[in-house]
Amino acid sequence: MTVLGLTGNIAHRLVQQYRRLSRLGRPGFRRKGNHRIRGGASTQLVHPLTINENQPALNVCVRLAPRAQPSFGQQFGNPDTLRIIHGYRFYPPTMLSYRHAFHAGNHADILKHLVLTLCLKHMNAKDKPWLLLDTHAGAGLYAIDSEPAKKTGEYIEGIARLWNRSDFPSSMAPYMAALQACNGGSKLRYYPGSPWLAAHLARGIDSLRFCELHSTDFALLRREFKDEGRRVKVEQADGFEAMKAALPPPSRRGIVLIDPSYEIKSDYPKVVSAIKDGLKRFATGTYVVWLPFLPSIEARSLPEKLKKLQADWIYAGLSVRGPATKGHGMSGSAIFVINPPWTLKSDLEASLPWLAHVLALDDKAGWSVQVSAGESAQAVDR
Ligand SMILES: C[S@@+](CC[C@H](N)C(=O)[O-])C[C@H]1O[C@@H](n2cnc3c(N)ncnc32)[C@H](O)[C@@H]1O
Repeated sequence: MTVLGLTGNIAHRLVQQYRRLSRLGRPGFRRKGNHRIRGGASTQLVHPLTINENQPALNVCVRLAPRAQPSFGQQFGNPDTLRIIHGYRFYPPTMLSYRHAFHAGNHADILKHLVLTLCLKHMNAKDKPWLLLDTHAGAGLYAIDSEPAKKTGEYIEGIARLWNRSDFPSSMAPYMAALQACNGGSKLRYYPGSPWLAAHLARGIDSLRFCELHSTDFALLRREFKDEGRRVKVEQADGFEAMKAALPPPSRRGIVLIDPSYEIKSDYPKVVSAIKDGLKRFATGTYVVWLPFLPSIEARSLPEKLKKLQADWIYAGLSVRGPATKGHGMSGSAIFVINPPWTLKSDLEASLPWLAHVLALDDKAGWSVQVSAGESAQAVDR
């Protein structure tokens, strides 16, 4: 028997489990899409075999029959929380199969983490404590020789190109030093995620709050910071929601890193509304948002929406190749920083030409930096 490309015992198990699902979900068992259950929530059921495999095609969703809803509520509590039923994992509506381990150390990580490092360094210039809220934290630290990293090889055209270079601009020194500290030797073995970098730069007085929804990455993240004590709070929580409770920080100094995978389109409007709300609670906070360069209307319109938020901003982009056409991956990415440190613009203008040169995949690679107040700082192709 062959099912969805799987054979033998695994295929048999899959069929058995589909049958069980159809009983559980009667009468609304379907293969794809999120399904609403009473109360407006929806539940996505992902077959265990798909987990860690990035195979959304195998995702299975179940609509709970009206009869099943009360017992779902009683037995499993809040449907927004990950639950395991009959060996199946129910994810909250927004949870998809994205794992950052497949992408760690690529060009987008380099841009994002360079900016994060520069912002945190700037915060450290004063003695007052700061808070870093990482709304989409991932696993925290990634092994370069892991199966996911080897499978995509994205780090090879990313961080591996920087590893042995010593001719980087001085503005990149804090980021390169953190990378060295993470690896602690001459061999590139690890790539530090945003939580690792933040913890590396945080002082004893600072606080870190990391949110991650994916159960596997949450477990890895929690393990990574298990000895950190009260300085670090790791939560399996929706990062957009966490902004409401965390802002403003008691010290009134803080950075919110918003780094969704944008696997679902609702992430785009959520970024805008979360920052709008965040600015009401904490108007002087620094908000660092990562955005992909993709041809979709949602991706292309996000920067314009952020520019309208009545705050100072810097918008910096790094392309490693010509614009993506439909069906192709990202050509680059950008960082949008609201209330940026005053040093950020010049640091980026010093770093990005070098990065665009070293990371270029074709002759369309380039960079740009724009700032608010109608003043376009530069838009320079390599
Ligand atoms: C791009 S990765 C994060 C990478 C990380 N910030 C870094 O730079 O190392 C996005 C992560 O967000 C998680 N995620 C997706 N939606 C979320 C949400 N609403 N709240 C918290 N985490 C979420 C995904 O499971 C994924 O691990």
